[in-house]
Amino acid sequence: MNATQEKLKVQLEQAIVAAFGADFGGVDPILVSASNPKFGDYQANVALSLSKKLAKQPRAIAGAIVEKLDVSEICEPPEIAGPGFINLKLKTAYLEAQLNEIQADPRLGVPAAKTPKREIVDFSSPNIAKEMHVGHLRSTIIGDSIARILEFQGHDVLRLNHVGDWGTQFGMLIAYLREVYPDALTTANALDIGDLVSFYRKAKQRFDTDAAFQETARQEVVRLQAGAEDTLHAWKLLCEQSRQEFQIIYELLDINLTERGESFYNPLLSGVVEDLEKSGLLVENQGAKCVFLEGFTNREGEPLPLIVQKSDGGYNYATTDLASLRYRIQQDQAKRIIYVTDAGQGNHFAQFLQVARKVGWIPDDVELVHVPFGLVLGEDGKKFKTRSGDTVRLRDLLDEAIARAHADLKTRLQEEERQETEEFINEVARVVGISAVKYADLSQNRTSSYIFSYDKMLDFKGNTAPYMLYAYARIQGISRKGDINFKELGNNAVLLEHETELALAKYLLQLDEVISSVEQDLLPNRLCEYLYELSKKFNQFYDRNQGVQVLEAEEPQRTSRLVLCDLTARTLKLGLSLLGIQVLERM
Ligand code: ARG
Repeated sequence: MNATQEKLKVQLEQAIVAAFGADFGGVDPILVSASNPKFGDYQANVALSLSKKLAKQPRAIAGAIVEKLDVSEICEPPEIAGPGFINLKLKTAYLEAQLNEIQADPRLGVPAAKTPKREIVDFSSPNIAKEMHVGHLRSTIIGDSIARILEFQGHDVLRLNHVGDWGTQFGMLIAYLREVYPDALTTANALDIGDLVSFYRKAKQRFDTDAAFQETARQEVVRLQAGAEDTLHAWKLLCEQSRQEFQIIYELLDINLTERGESFYNPLLSGVVEDLEKSGLLVENQGAKCVFLEGFTNREGEPLPLIVQKSDGGYNYATTDLASLRYRIQQDQAKRIIYVTDAGQGNHFAQFLQVARKVGWIPDDVELVHVPFGLVLGEDGKKFKTRSGDTVRLRDLLDEAIARAHADLKTRLQEEERQETEEFINEVARVVGISAVKYADLSQNRTSSYIFSYDKMLDFKGNTAPYMLYAYARIQGISRKGDINFKELGNNAVLLEHETELALAKYLLQLDEVISSVEQDLLPNRLCEYLYELSKKFNQFYDRNQGVQVLEAEEPQRTSRLVLCDLTARTLKLGLSLLGIQVLERM
């Protein structure tokens, strides 16, 4: 068995479990990374936890386990330490063999999922006629990374853009445009998104203050829902206008998405209400159709209803989500549905999912996950805004990141007295700017809010995209300097001697564990931390004082160290690609 078949940690756990014998088959061996490399690489704490149950000293239990423990292919002879820890140290020969093996593997030792699943990632999902905001940026970046990781694992992933393209706001907007700018409803591209947003604002003002206008807007919604041709045509134009704007952002960020907006589920909404009615869960409350929820109460402490059809016959956001959920389970055959939205929508998801569960629409083998994320804050710690207090346009934000990366690069080139073409400068600035924005977002635990800072995200020091990109480019620099083709280094060359080589080697072998943990808990920041640590380990290995010589070393060390360089670069490239970040050969 090897790393590409079974994860190292799992192998060790199984060996320990086998050593306790069948009676303790269900016991967790409590295998953790060693607290100090002096003690080895892993430490099993099971003897301590079994002590009470067996009424024996933990050291005696540890002794009995070690006597039967067979890990001789992987580890040095196990040692018992302190009150009864079992310390395991990986054998150098084992590490060398593993690295030789992953050198030949394009997946770098990460096994593909044994049972690929159909998974849906519902992410980005901006609203038509409104500007995409930083919350949508987070959803887009996090959702894309999750989708990339699942795709890499071999799952069949459907990336869905649940665009807000339906509902009463269109009645309002269309009614308003009919009055003030009818051309916009018949001519393509008559407005740009900025106009659309400001018309939307004015329409909303009118709607809130003018009862007659409210009535006109309602009629317009009815016309839209009934499929009246002119209204439908106007609606399509408005959607198209927004779509073009969203597309600019998606192209800048290299995002692929299938648009399936709320309107798609419109024909299914009445069926949702009918089926809820049949199930007996539906209650009429002041003319509205609703389901009462458990665990949710209003301000007065009374049970909260989830309204699925308003008294005027209109449907809600939740009704659409119920319809889309059924569609995704029945038609798309999804086994896991992942919703990436801000944490503020937590209740919405908990509520409609509770209803779906109650009616029995969710089969046992389907998993539904809301992946919440925190806010993006300005440097003042308040909600991220422009200086004048407006919402920041994403295009401006991305352009600014690129412009700053461009200026930084120019300064650096001057300092280093380097001449580069305009084309090179633009490309590096684009990659660095976009990566910096993505990485700054992904490297935070998504559930927390973070402060958006161009200076921090573009810094070459610290846990940032430029640091990681630089580590990669530095390794490619080694190959250029030594005129070495990493692809032709030959196999079975790895030879580990120096402490920094061993540390790097062990780290390189952990990629599979990290990826499978992100696959489960959907926290891409773990992958970022791993890549950051890896870059640091590489820099120690390559450090003139602490580390080893590479190009200047004698054979066979030289080739072995070049293989370590290549494996590090390939791991960085693969890992970054799973975060949606492109590498640069030179920067
Ligand atoms: N359009 C929503 C928003 O802007 C996000 C939709 C998320 N997906 C869903 N199935 N509800 O907040």
